[in-house]
Amino acid sequence: MSDGKLEIDKEREAEILKAEAELYPPSPETLEAARIKDVEAFYRRSLDDLAGFWEEQAGTLEWRRRWDKVLDESQAPFYKWYVGAKTNIVDNALDRHLKTFRRNKLALIWEGEPGDTRTFSYQSLHREVCRFAGVLRSMGVKRGDRVTIYMGRIPELVIAMLATAKLGAVHSVVYGGFSTEALADRIEDAQSRVLVTADGGWLRGKTVNLKQIADEAVQRSGYVEHVIVVRRTGQEVAMEAGRDYWYHELMSLPIALPRCETEEMDAEDPLFILYTSGTTGRPKGVLHTHGGYQVFTSSTLRWVFDLKDEDRYWCAADPGWITGHSYIVYGPLILGATSFMYEGAPNHPYPNRWWQLIEKYGLNILYTAPTAIRGLMRFAESWPRRYDLSSLRLLGTVGEPINPEAWRWYRNVIGGGRTQIMDTWWQTETGGFMISPMPAVPLKPGSATRPLPGIVADVVTEEGKSCGPNEDGLLVIKRPWPGMLRTVYGDPERYVSQYFSTFKKQGWYLTGDSARKDADGYIWIIGRIDDVIKVAGYRLGTAEVESALVSHGAVAEAAVIGVPDEIKGQAIHAFVILRQGVPVPLEEDLKAHVRKEMGPIAVPAHVSIVPVLPKTRSGKIMRRVLKARALGLPEGDISTLEG
Ligand code: PRX
Repeated sequence: MSDGKLEIDKEREAEILKAEAELYPPSPETLEAARIKDVEAFYRRSLDDLAGFWEEQAGTLEWRRRWDKVLDESQAPFYKWYVGAKTNIVDNALDRHLKTFRRNKLALIWEGEPGDTRTFSYQSLHREVCRFAGVLRSMGVKRGDRVTIYMGRIPELVIAMLATAKLGAVHSVVYGGFSTEALADRIEDAQSRVLVTADGGWLRGKTVNLKQIADEAVQRSGYVEHVIVVRRTGQEVAMEAGRDYWYHELMSLPIALPRCETEEMDAEDPLFILYTSGTTGRPKGVLHTHGGYQVFTSSTLRWVFDLKDEDRYWCAADPGWITGHSYIVYGPLILGATSFMYEGAPNHPYPNRWWQLIEKYGLNILYTAPTAIRGLMRFAESWPRRYDLSSLRLLGTVGEPINPEAWRWYRNVIGGGRTQIMDTWWQTETGGFMISPMPAVPLKPGSATRPLPGIVADVVTEEGKSCGPNEDGLLVIKRPWPGMLRTVYGDPERYVSQYFSTFKKQGWYLTGDSARKDADGYIWIIGRIDDVIKVAGYRLGTAEVESALVSHGAVAEAAVIGVPDEIKGQAIHAFVILRQGVPVPLEEDLKAHVRKEMGPIAVPAHVSIVPVLPKTRSGKIMRRVLKARALGLPEGDISTLEG
């Protein structure tokens, strides 16, 4: 890579080389239980006839009208899947289960941070979704409208997403940990007339003022006409007459009927927008559609976590991120699974919370992020050892590279040495798992192993040549897949320039990650090659955090970088130049300002006040130099440094 290698990259390299030699084959029991035993043959068959393969996968779902063509590449890179088909993802996620034994099966088991619990069968979830769809419709929400949803991990979040989709409207969920500016930007970009939120959310024994943040964001963005407020914490909130309504009051009106027709959509009609950070500027609205996304999320979930009807599955992510969209909401519901969802943090009030939940509900699959694993690993093993975790059959991880040490701990201490770990590599843009093992695949700790069936991934040089074994390169996807994003909402040019301009001639999708392939073809993700920082697995753009800093009256210019952090993977280090003639702010003030504008996840761990920032002659900030400075390492070649 052109950026040069720092000591820290070399550490990861040494780790990879060591872990490459370790191999964890599935146990005979795992192999016996695995739905797909001959992974090699399955993969080969998918590539022999890609369109035929994805057609077969789509055949497992219900469609109102079948497609005329599986894949239309005539407008590439604006690919179309299942052209001409009619469907609605809610037909498959809810409606069709009511005709089977799953009607009375649990769809969702939920526990709140204070310990309150709620359960929904497929029938009762369907009823709540219909009722809320009736409410949204009465507010004028119709096909194609955007509804913004901003709340904590509570069932109403899932209900609001599904109700929006049922009406053919488009949801834009904003993670409940984001704050005013982040929410306002996203409402504005989507031009949502309706916002669904909550009075507050529970977090580590305290409540977060969601409604107050929502009020400020609504004021700044100026599109929202109606705000629907779920009562979760019962805290005092201001309600604006004629604009704000309580969810429970609306749900008791005759508009909230237990039945509501599901809108018939084209396979390529938009289902949701989810904002994510890219190289420059504002977050991009990644757009996914009804048809391809339902096929991709359900197929990949079936292959990787091998869900069985009797399983209880826990994806501990937040529905506000893609992991939650695909693998808490849509994927599991389409497969008719029983999911568990927990509102709070893993270590509150004690670091036994998760283990207690696994034992209490007999959960079979746990899917989480390396940062949570590392966070829990800090505490004595006696915390998990006190619980019966023998129900666990498979474990999963996502969001950032997992260090082999955390991987081994996860498998041995939590999985009792018997569970395989599904290290799933994917992105908001990909809609679902791309590179991941399946239960029958032998594992190497820290590698996401190989591409899934139907996915053609490779590691290439900047010139587009396949890299040799253990050579670092760019991770690309060479063929389209049904779950891929269709565009950047309102900005198709950005879709093309961001993902399809580097390898324009070849038509490859650029992931933005660097990686290497070992001699066995196993892929090892190294990290982002752009200005994306992964803090505790959350994806943040340097530009967003910098703009929050610059909106503080004392800051003239800001540059942020990611530095290694033992628990969070990366932490933010900010460098700021202050304005002349203003009082020098405290570091704490700057951090508090970022917290207020962007949310707690974007708060820099360190802020350095500096007189100048290192820039190239063309004015680009040299983040590599800043990174070396922050880590006290040699700055390397700085010959292009300005002045
Ligand atoms: O850098 C990769 C990292 O997360 C990025 C995508 O972030 P986001 O869109 O927020 O989606 C995260 C959840 C799907 C990727 O470009 N990443 C994701 N999964 C892994 C990973 N890095 C290493 N190993 C993974 N399993």
